[in-house]
Amino acid sequence: MSELNLVLLGPPGSGKGTQGERLQEDLRLPYYATGDILRAAVRGETALGQTAQEYMDRGDLVPDEVIVGVIAERIDSNEALDGFILDGFPRTIPQAEALDAKLKELGRAVTAVLLIDVPDDELVRRLGGRRTCEENGHVFHVEFNPPEQEGVCDLDASRLIVRDDDKPEVIRKRLETYHAKTEPLVSYYDQRSELRRIEGAAPPDAVAEEIRRTLATMRLEQDETV
Ligand code: AP5
Repeated sequence: MSELNLVLLGPPGSGKGTQGERLQEDLRLPYYATGDILRAAVRGETALGQTAQEYMDRGDLVPDEVIVGVIAERIDSNEALDGFILDGFPRTIPQAEALDAKLKELGRAVTAVLLIDVPDDELVRRLGGRRTCEENGHVFHVEFNPPEQEGVCDLDASRLIVRDDDKPEVIRKRLETYHAKTEPLVSYYDQRSELRRIEGAAPPDAVAEEIRRTLATMRLEQDETV
């Protein structure tokens, strides 16, 4: 497969970040997670961060026009010539249309959208117990994936924090936002035969294995059509 333009789609807490980190290592492709980009902008007090913070804190999406340019610039960069992994983008139909338009302009297309699906009650348990590394966004869970030392990231020794939007009332709002605004992307990509469903309720290693198998099958299918 010459170029791999991947989208990770799924509700908050479905494991996009957890699997995105692994995929980035496996595939050696740039990984663009819009939540991480926006949180870094909030920490850096940039204009983007100042615009985004109020939306993020209440569990809403930042406006499409704010985020589309951020991603368009990255996929148009030299580091993304062999492909990329998107996590958290697109999140609305207009964002998906903007992504398609940008890729078309570059003579490219989405290779596959991996939908990591998990029931809502499991998502609430995952988000409620999540601990996130303050510096680099590495993800842990107090029960399902605890760090070796409580409160400290195994990978870079920075402090583990509870994200502002992992408070119970914001978690509920984020799930509502997902169902209303992002879930319509499932049929958008299904109609284009770009959607691959991944059973996200399984343990992280099993999810990673299913993603590997799915990508290997796609490679075989593509080789057969060449
Ligand atoms: P973002 O950071 O993208 O948040 P999200 O989509 O809500 O996703 P999460 O990061 O919460 O979850 P995840 O799926 O990555 O799960 P994780 O691997 O961490 O966005 C934040 C905000 O930014 C949005 O609300 C919005 O305001 C704004 N934003 C971002 N992109 C935008 C866009 N395109 N347009 C507009 N606004 C945008 O896992 C969760 C927990 O579960 C962890 O503790 C983990 O250890 C554990 N876990 C993971 N996998 C498993 C497993 N298989 N079994 C058990 N536990 C597991």
